Amino acid sequence: MESIKRVNVEGKKVIVRVDFNVPIKDGKITDDTRIVSSLKTIKYLVTHNAKVILLSHLGRVASQEDKEKKSLEIVAKHLSTLINVPIYFVPVTRGDLLTKTVESMENGEIVVVENTRFEDYPRMLESSCDESLSKYWASLGDIFVFDAFGTAHRCHASTYGISKYLPSYSGFLVDAEIDMLDRALHQRKTLILGGAKVDDKIGVIDNLINTSDAILLGGAMCFTFLKAKGIDVGSSVVSIDRLEYAKNLLETHGNKIFLPVDVVTQNGVKNIDEMEREDIGYDIGPKTITKYNEILIDSKLVLWNGPLGMFEEKDYENGTKKILKFLYNQSIPSILAGGDIIGASHKFGFDFHYVSTGGGSTLEYLEGRRFKTLERLTGENNK
Ligand code: 3PG
Repeated sequence: MESIKRVNVEGKKVIVRVDFNVPIKDGKITDDTRIVSSLKTIKYLVTHNAKVILLSHLGRVASQEDKEKKSLEIVAKHLSTLINVPIYFVPVTRGDLLTKTVESMENGEIVVVENTRFEDYPRMLESSCDESLSKYWASLGDIFVFDAFGTAHRCHASTYGISKYLPSYSGFLVDAEIDMLDRALHQRKTLILGGAKVDDKIGVIDNLINTSDAILLGGAMCFTFLKAKGIDVGSSVVSIDRLEYAKNLLETHGNKIFLPVDVVTQNGVKNIDEMEREDIGYDIGPKTITKYNEILIDSKLVLWNGPLGMFEEKDYENGTKKILKFLYNQSIPSILAGGDIIGASHKFGFDFHYVSTGGGSTLEYLEGRRFKTLERLTGENNK
């Protein structure tokens, strides 16, 4: 990949694909991590006198109603509170207004274009990587900078499509993500995995098992593994069709896989071999927290995806909260991957340095998959 630092951007129209797909509730952005993480690239381009054209999607657009709800204007407004440069929002994704606005830009100005997925209704032009849409967007600029790591696993018109028609470079956010996730892939580490479904983690476990010294499991997914060990998990959620997978993994790598020794249920804390029929495990228990911390204290690197319990509820927050706190206070190098665990760290006030802005893209990267859009970031324009 080539970083934008390698090209002279002065006076150039630079199309930057960012991932401003942020959570919004009651008309308010509830987590602006992705916007803040894009600032380094945007500020660099502004201070180097580029004309910055920002493209992003927001949610999925499958109806006229979606279009009414998913305008990027709210994000453009928020961006203008974070950066001391006037931001022009263009409420369309193509046509005269957009073309003319871009043509009249001065150096150092920023234009935010309407949600790229407005092109998905009525025809799926953005998500199908429509050729003429890709060419049209590319025609607006001189250079393409891809800084939307969260969208790197998608081959859409505003990602892969534009990169076919313009010299394309990576932005600083993408560079930092790749550095961090490559470390997570290749270095020896302790893996913490939680969340609801075993299915979501299989690719990651399979790809990382050989470079992990220990895998600490929690969240609803751990009950499939406990059951595979022959433990009665009461009424906790179990993925029946993944029991075989869990059994095999425990047989082949049982020495590395750590499971809760106690859990918090609706009936209080229970040792794992004392769960009753109606008990549902919602969090790891205090003995497990201690045991996991004893393993973590010797870790050179920790990679964490998925919360260890239902942290949104006070009664079930301790597993996730206390282990986050431990890693943070002990300054154990830790990479948080995925929106849920990052959301938990924000909720509990722990400001970790290494957080991945991707959701699906981070998991797929950790599964070892290659992304076509990233492969195009060579500084070339070879169709
Ligand atoms: C995400 O939030 O994971 C990215 O923005 C990609 O969104 P998508 O899954 O709708 O393509």
